[in-house]
Amino acid sequence: MTSAGEREVGPSGSDSAGAGPRWPPVPWAERMLGEARFGHLATVDARGTPTVVPCCFALVDGDVGEAPALVSVMDEKPKRVDDRETRRVRDIVATGSVALVVDDEDEDWSRLAWVLVRGRATIIGPGEVGHAGAVMALRTKYAQYREMTLEGRLVIRVGDLSALAWRATPEGTVPAKSPSPIGPVDVTPRFRDAMGMIRGRRSVRVFTADPVPQDVVRQAIEAAGWAPSPHGRQPWRFAVVDSESAKRALADAMARTWEEQLALDGQAPEVIAVRLRKGRERLLGAPTLVVPCLFPEVLDAYPDPDRREAERVMAIQSLGAAVQTMLLWLYAEGWDAGWMCAPLFCPDVVRETLDLPVDLIPHALIPIGRAEREPVRRERLPPGDLIVGWR
Ligand SMILES: Cc1cc2nc3c(=O)[nH]c(=O)nc-3n(C[C@H](O)[C@H](O)[C@H](O)COP(=O)(O)O)c2cc1C
Repeated sequence: MTSAGEREVGPSGSDSAGAGPRWPPVPWAERMLGEARFGHLATVDARGTPTVVPCCFALVDGDVGEAPALVSVMDEKPKRVDDRETRRVRDIVATGSVALVVDDEDEDWSRLAWVLVRGRATIIGPGEVGHAGAVMALRTKYAQYREMTLEGRLVIRVGDLSALAWRATPEGTVPAKSPSPIGPVDVTPRFRDAMGMIRGRRSVRVFTADPVPQDVVRQAIEAAGWAPSPHGRQPWRFAVVDSESAKRALADAMARTWEEQLALDGQAPEVIAVRLRKGRERLLGAPTLVVPCLFPEVLDAYPDPDRREAERVMAIQSLGAAVQTMLLWLYAEGWDAGWMCAPLFCPDVVRETLDLPVDLIPHALIPIGRAEREPVRRERLPPGDLIVGWR
């Protein structure tokens, strides 16, 4: 893809179109490479036939004074043939010549960027020098690898790295999306592709049976704890439900209340039966449920009802922020989650069933796991429709 802004950049941000690729790349490109969740690895066989495969990778320190190396592992993801027979491993054994590209896609082409790395690849067998370090680096970067046995797998190490990078917008600026009343935006982005994470998160309603490690749940709740809250008091607490017996008790208790409410709405018994069955399946099908509860005890107490109500609303706003922070963290770490409002309609039932303290008000159910399939997304309004005034 070409555009007026296209250029290759070398060290220290200087344009270096025409000069050869070098290491280290400019800071944004090095950061992009370090943070990329995957890249596309190109290998070539002895006859010059290329192959490209997506791959997870990590950067590891090179020898003293040398550029880092890039490592990838032939992991447990299903493959049609034995690791040594895969095209990429055969190509590396034959030629050792590889390239890897990471890129930022965006419909807004002023946000496009890519980094291309070339190097010499070798295959490291289990127990050989560099194998354990590579596995450790990959496990540090990818939570999924912490649960896979990688000690017996082949590692690909790419050394002698050189890099080329291109980005539509020069380093140190982000393109302004709309005219700003405070002049042109000129800030260094703190995160690469924050919009990608925000747009990528979605409500998942059907999960695989894969369990969620307790540590993941703990970290998700830690993330929630960093949400903004009134007076910084964090007026919320979280109950975790991951045992079959507790899930079942919760599903049964909530179903009883829901049945009454649906009957009150005048719904036909057969419709009620289907909705109850589906609701129950959804609860039991989620490996872990987190129940965010409002904890009003820590709020300021006011003598007048208006300020009391404002304080209560602030706490609820903040509970939403805490849940969203948790959802974003889970998504960023490769987990999936949803949002169910059911406890809001029967807080006492949920509190009693889970034996929670009386000063907690259950507000939602957050099912966590791994998505069984991609959910259908809902369209979003463009910012112009959301902004009602800009004076
Ligand atoms: C307060 C709140 C309550 C919600 N309750 C439910 C619910 O009970 N069941 C459900 O399937 N989704 C529920 N959702 C998820 C929304 O349906 C979902 O966020 C919306 O359709 C946008 O889709 P997305 O999250 O995939 O972007 C809730 C979301 C919020 C913020």
